[in-house]
Amino acid sequence: MLFDSHCHLNSDQFDEHDVLEMIHTARDQDVVQILVPGYDLASSQRAVELADSWQGLYAAVGIHPNDAAQATEEAYEQLREWAKLPQVVAIGEIGLDYHWETTPKEVQFEVFRRQIRLAKEVNLPIIIHDREAHGDIVQILREEGAQEVGGIMHCFSGSWEMAKECMNMNFLISFGGPVTFKNAKRPQEVASKVPLDYLLVETDAPYLTPEPYRGKRNQPLYVRHVAGKIAELRGMEFAEICKITSDNAERIFRVRNPFVSL
Ligand code: NI
Repeated sequence: MLFDSHCHLNSDQFDEHDVLEMIHTARDQDVVQILVPGYDLASSQRAVELADSWQGLYAAVGIHPNDAAQATEEAYEQLREWAKLPQVVAIGEIGLDYHWETTPKEVQFEVFRRQIRLAKEVNLPIIIHDREAHGDIVQILREEGAQEVGGIMHCFSGSWEMAKECMNMNFLISFGGPVTFKNAKRPQEVASKVPLDYLLVETDAPYLTPEPYRGKRNQPLYVRHVAGKIAELRGMEFAEICKITSDNAERIFRVRNPFVSL
């Protein structure tokens, strides 16, 4: 069984019918647990609702750096309220994005720091979005003592050195579609070295579709191709990678597969 640790079923690109179909298709092929991260208030609310309606779906709430302008005091208060709900298992995705220069860095830093403090206050792990901001991400996580709650480096694109620094701060390393791309030397190198206890897989659907579907819209089912590639890189069985990454996701989010009867 597989756990897609980062999937935007709350995206505007999916209508109700798409969501229903994708969840059933995924489950039919053993992708039974999905974490739906928010990126602004509306998508966080939608994640909360989805996780409330489906067993095996969980929500994270947070404000993405590109939407940092939304981060008013009322917004932080709303995140804090959602964080009390049982289906909300993380704060995210939050972080820094230097690719799109829509939000000044100073604003991104402030919104990122505030949400790390919120995660510590509500004792939930953090899901990190890091786009071309590796050094500042590590520095802020360290300065804010994010180690206390730990979390996930989502769709990790940093170096092996950075991965080690993040793991030292209790962050797991999650890989998505890019690890399947032919020219993805660095994520492939890191994915073959990360200790198994720190390894996660994700789709980031509807974005970053793995091979052999690159160019099409992504969906949670395709996390199988990410897990398959990592199994190949490490010379391990597909089923082992599925089991290990599901166990890791259940551990960091403190959830248990509702489809396994004990
Ligand atoms: Ni995302």
